[in-house]
Amino acid sequence: MFAYIHREIVPVEKAFLHVSDLSIQRGYGIFDFFKVQDGHPYFLDDYLDRFYNSAASMQLEVPHQRDDLKSIIFSLITKNNIAASGVKMILTGGYSADGYQPAEPNLIITQHHLTLPGEDQIKNGVKIITHEFVRDFASAKTINYSTGIWLINKVKENQAVDVLYHQKGIVSEFPRCNFFIVRNDNTVVTPAHQVLRGITRKNILKLAARKYRAEEGVVTLEDIANAKEAFLTSTTKRIVPVVKVNETVIGDGKPGAVSLSLLNDLIALENEDFQSKAN
Ligand SMILES: Cc1ncc(COP(=O)(O)O)c(C=O)c1O
Repeated sequence: MFAYIHREIVPVEKAFLHVSDLSIQRGYGIFDFFKVQDGHPYFLDDYLDRFYNSAASMQLEVPHQRDDLKSIIFSLITKNNIAASGVKMILTGGYSADGYQPAEPNLIITQHHLTLPGEDQIKNGVKIITHEFVRDFASAKTINYSTGIWLINKVKENQAVDVLYHQKGIVSEFPRCNFFIVRNDNTVVTPAHQVLRGITRKNILKLAARKYRAEEGVVTLEDIANAKEAFLTSTTKRIVPVVKVNETVIGDGKPGAVSLSLLNDLIALENEDFQSKAN
């Protein structure tokens, strides 16, 4: 496996950062992550837009123009030649002289084999727990996942698969996924504030608007308890139905028709994106 670092593609075993990097010293940096199938990165422009936006909002400069970055990505995925993978672009705070001042950012690009959620999660839905927390710079994809990682044991102890953040009962997102509910009138709603604007979230809002009412708005813990369906979204997970939040069962406790139909629509949209680039 090869990675891009220090402006060259090298075997991943040789991809090192110096200890002075601000990502190591202070956890300062941003990243993004997209799926690749047979050499085709899905929705690449959306992920690049978000990568450049996250960098700008954290005052980091991406060392390449968009076209150059694209050709680096294509060189790497051609070299690695993996059927189904995820590509991660990380931009760090750079080699800091005093361990605090930002320096020239380091860009690292790695590629990984992809694991999709198991069939049983789609068939039966999952349980989640909740935790009061708001991410710093929520609209940027920063590398700081301390709270999410710190909560891993609590998630496991509760036989849950993930933890949904909220503040005073107003929910936002998971450490690595966005959240949706389906109200009883089939309106599909996702939290508007204190969230990362997920690319899957954007696609689901677009797809949902074709069939139902779809909106970004305020979602409370009480709204979830009264919802007909709930689901999470992310690049790797697509849609996973949520059937239990803490000890509250959502709807009839089974993955709902709206969630499952949106999952099919998302797969169709991915296929369309794949075909459009192949032509
Ligand atoms: C904080 C956060 N929210 C939401 C998401 C989901 O975004 P996407 O659909 O672009 O993968 C991610 C992805 O890792 C994330 O880190």
